[in-house]
Parts: sequence; structure tokens; C-alpha cells
Amino acid sequence: MRTLAWFLLTGAFLTVAGLPSPSASGRQAATSATSARQSRLLAAPAGQAPSSASPASQQPPPATAGQPPSSATPAGPPPSLTTSARQEAGTIAPRIIGTMSELMVEIVYPTSDAILYIETRTPTNDVEWNELQGKALMLAEVGNLLMMPGRARDQGRWLEDAKLMRDAGAAAFRAAKNKDVAALAELNEQVYVSCTTCHQHYRSNYGRGRPVDPAR
Ligand code: HEC
Repeated sequence: MRTLAWFLLTGAFLTVAGLPSPSASGRQAATSATSARQSRLLAAPAGQAPSSASPASQQPPPATAGQPPSSATPAGPPPSLTTSARQEAGTIAPRIIGTMSELMVEIVYPTSDAILYIETRTPTNDVEWNELQGKALMLAEVGNLLMMPGRARDQGRWLEDAKLMRDAGAAAFRAAKNKDVAALAELNEQVYVSCTTCHQHYRSNYGRGRPVDPAR
């Protein structure tokens, strides 16, 4: 994630810096294009990828893009302010807030419980269904959180185990959106297995005496 962001940022920087012998107007055009891309990113509604095909007439003037005005800079390397701002942005990365145990107790356990007990705690109105949808979504997304750098215990089996939970949560989210109690009840096994699989592999003193698949 961080590497990707850094790549994207560095790539964007190189696009500007790598122009052959930039004339003042050429460089300004390139910088304006970058500013225009950034303002499209800012202006794009959530979830909508910025389109590079937008006509130039739709672009706001560069001054609104939060960039130093490019025309004020003499020809030469890109302004160092811009460079350091990019480097600073490159240091922003996902950060661990809760311990593994806290994630389990505060998020994974209550959200999975809502699905495991669907038949005895069936939502009775839209508000309760919305809550259940949120919990199922949370269970799926916490699967992603478990895959984060700093949380993933390795890049192989751990990711597979976390994906089991993400998949179970995603299926539960779909079923909850359909208010499908039977489908949610059928997902019980899948949810449960996703917990016990990872716990057998990674939770110390868990499931002692039960053999772990020797092939793994
Ligand atoms: C990808 C791995 C993984 C998955 C999936 C997973 N867990 Fe865990 N879980 C762990 C690890 C590792 C621990 C031990 C954490 C520690 O003690 O530091 C743990 C511990 C726990 C604990 C004990 C926390 C404590 O400190 O008391 C609970 C409760 C728990 N998990 C619930 C669940 C449930 C419910 C699910 C399935 C819906 C689940 N976990 C799925 C890895 C996982």
C-alpha cells in the first residue's frame, strides 16, 4: 500500500521532472496538467475514478488546486516545496491502532456473534437489519485489517486464513442486505471455520492436540 502510494507519487513526479529540456511554457503546461489531475481527484465524487478524458474546459483554474502557481517559478527543477510535500505524503500509511487481541475482542467477536446467533437474535425492523449489515461488513473488512503490514504474521497461510473470514463476512453482508435469515444461518459454519482455522494455526495454546495439516 505504502509502496504503491510511493510509486504513484514518484511516478507522477517523474512525469513532470522527466520532460525533455522543458521550456517555461511546456513545463507550465505539464505542471498545470498535474494540478488539473489533482483537482479532478479532489472534485471526483467518492468511488468515482478520475477520467483523463474530461475536456480541459471542465478543469478549474490551477490556482484552485492548492499548488503553488507554476507560472511564478523560473525554468529549472520542480520547486522543492512541491517535492518535499510529495515526500511527506509518501510517509502516510496504514497504522496499527488496536492489538490483535483488541481487534478480536472488540470487533471480530461481537460482529461474528451477530451472524452466529442470527436465528435467536433475528432483526425485527429496518434499524436492526442495518445494524446487522454493518456488523457483517465490519467482519469482512476486519479481514483486510488482519492482512495489514504489521499485523500479518506471514505472507502465506496468514493471508489465506484472514481471507476465509473476509469471504465469510462478505457473504454475510450480501445476505444481510437481502434480509435473508436462512442464508445467514447457512453461513454459520463458514464463519466458525474461518475463526478456528486461523486460531489453530496462530493462536498459542489453541486447539492443542488437534493436528495441523502437515502439508502446510
Ligand atoms: C487470520 C487469523 C485470525 C482469524 C481469521 C481470527 N482470529 Fe481470533 N485470534 C487470532 C490470534 C492470532 C489471536 C491471539 C491474539 C493474542 O492473544 O494476541 C486471536 C484471539 C482471539 C480471541 C481471544 C482474544 C483475547 O485476547 O482474549 C477471540 C475471542 C477471537 N480471537 C475471536 C475470533 C473470532 C470469533 C473469529 C472469527 C469470526 C476470529 N477470532 C478469527 C487470529 C485470528
